[in-house]
Amino acid sequence: MLQTAEQPPRSPRFVQVYREDQEALRRELTQGLLQAQAHCSPKFLYDALGSRLFEAITELPEYYPTRTEASIFATHGADMARAVPQNATLLDLGAGNCNKAAALFSRFEPQRYVAIDISVQFLQGALECLQRQHPKLEMWGLGVDFSGGLQLPEPIEAAASGPRLLFYPGSSIGNFTPDAALAFLRSVRLACGTQAGSGLLIGVDLVKDSAVLEAAYDDALGVTAAFNLNLLLHLNRLLQADFRLPDWRHRAHYDTQQQRIEMHLQARHAVKVSWHDEQGQRCERHFEAGQTLHTENSCKWTVQGFAELLQRAGFQGLQHWSDEARQFAVFWASAC
Ligand code: AVI
Repeated sequence: MLQTAEQPPRSPRFVQVYREDQEALRRELTQGLLQAQAHCSPKFLYDALGSRLFEAITELPEYYPTRTEASIFATHGADMARAVPQNATLLDLGAGNCNKAAALFSRFEPQRYVAIDISVQFLQGALECLQRQHPKLEMWGLGVDFSGGLQLPEPIEAAASGPRLLFYPGSSIGNFTPDAALAFLRSVRLACGTQAGSGLLIGVDLVKDSAVLEAAYDDALGVTAAFNLNLLLHLNRLLQADFRLPDWRHRAHYDTQQQRIEMHLQARHAVKVSWHDEQGQRCERHFEAGQTLHTENSCKWTVQGFAELLQRAGFQGLQHWSDEARQFAVFWASAC
């Protein structure tokens, strides 16, 4: 009698590239805090609590992007499936809990799934759970910081033979300035490789009425305020700084010229803050009442403006899908 050996169950593979460099973080933060307009990268909004607060933001009635994007995928998923490559390696940028990509597995039928985030630790639980639900799908977790550009490490380059589907939902591209967005998209275009059919599926928040935007970034429940203020607690830990939350208030303003929401933390009165720089020296900064620490830009795009940006980054064969109110758009852009 013919015996069939049982295959051992698949498990995800993990590659961690990013290593936290405390000295570099302190140097970067000190430089930003000492500028005339103090500023700090939005990546510092996402410590463990910040990430949970962001998840809560996505459920707020005022924060339309997440549910609007989900509705676009639900309505136009079949059209998207016709545009994107079949049997592709699906590379999910900023995968987090992997839910958005996993919801598309049945439509896109990828051959391989690569979840990408800053740390494989964040991805481990979600990927192991997904692997049990999709035992045949090859899965990888990749820990890289792609905020300065995406570069795939050798094991992923080698594994991702065939067409590649880069997936960047959630309008996180809006957290780059337009110049940085162009540089980032060029790096994504390169990461798409040279196989015919490869490309990028990306969610983009569109220009709209200021009142709608400002409410989305300053909700009545105060979750976005807590998300922004929590950055100070994160800085206190990273820099042994002495920011006090009662000294600061959350501000969100839409700049119609630059087409972006700016989030700031504003000093309620004159405040003195001190911290340790990268050499362990104590630094100090005085903030006058009303002065701010700029914590995030969230750029909004027109459909035409974003299509031009994708073309300048080297993409072609563009398609986009939007909701009825044209609040948000999902673009497909071919790499070759
Ligand atoms: C992650 N990113 C797309 C969010 C945004 O809308 O810019 C971050 C956020 N900031 C405040 N609310 C949400």
